[in-house]
Amino acid sequence: MAKIFVDTAKIEEIEEAAAWGIVDGVTTNPTLMFRAGTANRKQRTLEIVEVVRGSVSAEVISTEAEGMIEEAKEILSWSEHVYVKIPTTDEGLKAMHVISQWPNGRINATLIFSANQAFLAAKAGADYASIFVGRLDDAGLDGMAVVRQTRRIFDTYGLGCQVLAASIRHPRHVLEALLAGADIITMPFPVLKKMVGSPFTDIGLQKFLADWHKIAAQ
Ligand code: G3P
Repeated sequence: MAKIFVDTAKIEEIEEAAAWGIVDGVTTNPTLMFRAGTANRKQRTLEIVEVVRGSVSAEVISTEAEGMIEEAKEILSWSEHVYVKIPTTDEGLKAMHVISQWPNGRINATLIFSANQAFLAAKAGADYASIFVGRLDDAGLDGMAVVRQTRRIFDTYGLGCQVLAASIRHPRHVLEALLAGADIITMPFPVLKKMVGSPFTDIGLQKFLADWHKIAAQ
């Protein structure tokens, strides 16, 4: 079953989505922490874990492998639900190689823009390969093609890393990621809300209720 993650650090959004019973996890990054108005990464991550009790990703700030590994040690100690997000650079791969050998080395390889990067992240031991679909589309490229290519490569070579479609901009991205075989799709809360909403549902509901009130009044 494909998993839905919410791409936010805002507790009220996570609570509302979790109440629908469809949230498998949450992804955060420094920008999302900034938008949520918090610099306390640990506290916010643990607050999110309390709400979802599923996979919650928190990102390192360091750009050198040594610093990433130090941060990962701390981040992964916060909770068994936490995944450490590591940028897919050469330093990031070095860090993934070390962290993936720890018993609690749960890794979300982030900032992936090509299937080659996803392949390397998987080989270095990442559990998730986060492909930034929307940012590729913004640059005039085909973000979903990278999801499809990565799916095919992971399946062809039996790589256990999960394909995570990230940087999702609209419900059509979600649909295409599902059809492309993504294991996980992380999306901003407004995209999730748009997936539920349909003017036809609203019109249909109004008509049912209007007819019910007519018959009930007789
Ligand atoms: O999970 C990664 C995602 O937050 C990036 O999204 O909208 O900043 O491209 P965006």
